Amino acid sequence: MSDGPRVTTVPGVDSLARVTAERFIAAAALAVRTRGVFRVALAGGTTPARAYEIIAAAPSGAVQWTETHVFWGDERPVPPDHPDSNYRMAKEALLSRVPLPEGNVHRLRGEAQDLEAAAAEYAEELAYAFGVPMAGAPPRFDLILLGMGPEGHTASLFPASPVLDSRAWVAAPFVPALGMRRLTLTPWVINAAAAVIFAVSGTNKATALSVVLSGERQPERFPAQAIMPVDGRLEWLVEAELARAAGVC
Ligand code: 6PG
Repeated sequence: MSDGPRVTTVPGVDSLARVTAERFIAAAALAVRTRGVFRVALAGGTTPARAYEIIAAAPSGAVQWTETHVFWGDERPVPPDHPDSNYRMAKEALLSRVPLPEGNVHRLRGEAQDLEAAAAEYAEELAYAFGVPMAGAPPRFDLILLGMGPEGHTASLFPASPVLDSRAWVAAPFVPALGMRRLTLTPWVINAAAAVIFAVSGTNKATALSVVLSGERQPERFPAQAIMPVDGRLEWLVEAELARAAGVC
């Protein structure tokens, strides 16, 4: 059984990006050293972009890109070249800057007309990439990076999400607050990871962060609370001003 979440407070968004990059590089080195492969799911949104740029600028050899497989925790219902695409953000900040083989990039197909079919296809891609049967235990990522929204959503698990308890690996829930479906890994997969790291900043997230880290359990209202790795490490990297506002210093 895992310990509780580790909360690391870092001063300023540049430090948050640097520490996120350090964690990514360390997780990659550990995974390649122990198993010969590093499988990571990237977070979307805006916070991680600077960290991805720092990872891309790391000295050659810091990350063994030929042994690295990149996935996404979630994706918006847009094509890969759309300004809102999480894939596009990662491609611009990281993928286009490192020697990652094309076959090691596992994109969620946000452009699909049938997002539920796209979710099922991604689950098959996970099974193949991880070499596990679809009927069995979920694939175990070496690292999953996550963010959190001001109302406590993470990946595309929003308040009242119908997939919080799903045993599917990937889902395409309709999000009423957005008026659209999103593609997302489920907590079933995220909680199977060896390491999950949240990187959060912005005092507009203080209330949600305070509840998620210190409040009563109510994951249907604050889905980030649903993230509790079964046998893995959970760390929150919290920018200092947000940590103070949330009372989680
Ligand atoms: C997305 C993300 C989402 C994100 C949070 C925080 O597709 O939007 O996956 O879960 O991590 O909304 O976003 P910011 O980093 O932009 O605050």
